[in-house]
Amino acid sequence: MSSTAPNNKPVVDDAPKTDHAYDGIEEFDNPLPGWWKWLFIASIAFCPPYWLYYHGGTPGRSIEDGYGVALAANTRLQFEEIGELKPDAATLVEYMEKDNWLRVGKIVFQTHCVSCHDREGQGKVGPNLTDEYFKNINTIEDIAKVINNGAAAGAMPKWSNRLHPNEVVLVSAYVASMRGENLDGPRGAEGKTIPPWPEPTANTEDTAESDSSE
Ligand code: HEC
Repeated sequence: MSSTAPNNKPVVDDAPKTDHAYDGIEEFDNPLPGWWKWLFIASIAFCPPYWLYYHGGTPGRSIEDGYGVALAANTRLQFEEIGELKPDAATLVEYMEKDNWLRVGKIVFQTHCVSCHDREGQGKVGPNLTDEYFKNINTIEDIAKVINNGAAAGAMPKWSNRLHPNEVVLVSAYVASMRGENLDGPRGAEGKTIPPWPEPTANTEDTAESDSSE
C-alpha cells in the first residue's frame, strides 16, 4: 500500500502500525482479510486427504491410472476392428504393409522398448534390430515369440503378460519393418544373417517395398 498520493502527500499516516520499527522504518499493521486466511487454512487442510486419496497407493485412483484405463478402453475399441491377431507369418507380413497399424506398433515400441533397443531400434542394452543379424530370430514369427517369452534369461523381458496380443503382433510387425535400415548402433553385428521375410500374400495390390534384394 503506497504511503504517498500522486501529489506526494502521505495518505495513511494514521493507519495502525505494528510495534516493529528498525532504523526509523515502521511496519503498517495490515492483516490479511479473514476470508483469505480461511481459504489458506482450508487449502492446507484439503491437501493431506487429497494426497492420500489420489496418491496413497490405492490402485485406480491416480490421474495416470485413469489415463491408462481410458487408453486401454480406447485401444480395445480400436482392436474390435481387427479382432484378435495371430502372431503368425501371414499376419505379421500383412500388418507390415498397414501404415496406420504399424504406427500403433511404433507407439508400443517407443513406450516399452527404447530403453534397451534405443529410439530407432539401433541397439543399446539389447541388439540392433535394424541390421541383418539376429540372435534369436530365424523366421518372422520368432519376433513375436521372443517378445512374448523374453530371451537370454530375462535380459530381454517377457511381454506376454504386459501387452495385449494385438500389441505384440503390431510391435512385431514394426520391428520386422526396421530390418534393412542398417542404422549404426553401439553394439555391432550380433548373431547370424537369416533369409528375408516372406513376401506378403497377393490380397493387397501394392507389393512390399522392393529392397528385399537378397
Ligand atoms: C531391459 C532391456 C530390454 C527391453 C526393455 C526390451 N528388450 Fe528386446 N532384447 C533385450 C536383450 C538384452 C536382447 C538380446 C537377448 C539375447 O542376447 O539373446 C533382446 C532381444 C530382442 C529381440 C531379438 C533380437 C535378436 O537378434 O535375437 C527382439 C525382436 C526384441 N528384443 C524386441 C523387443 C521389443 C519389441 C521390446 C519392447 C516391447 C523389447 N525388445 C524390450 C533387451 C530388452
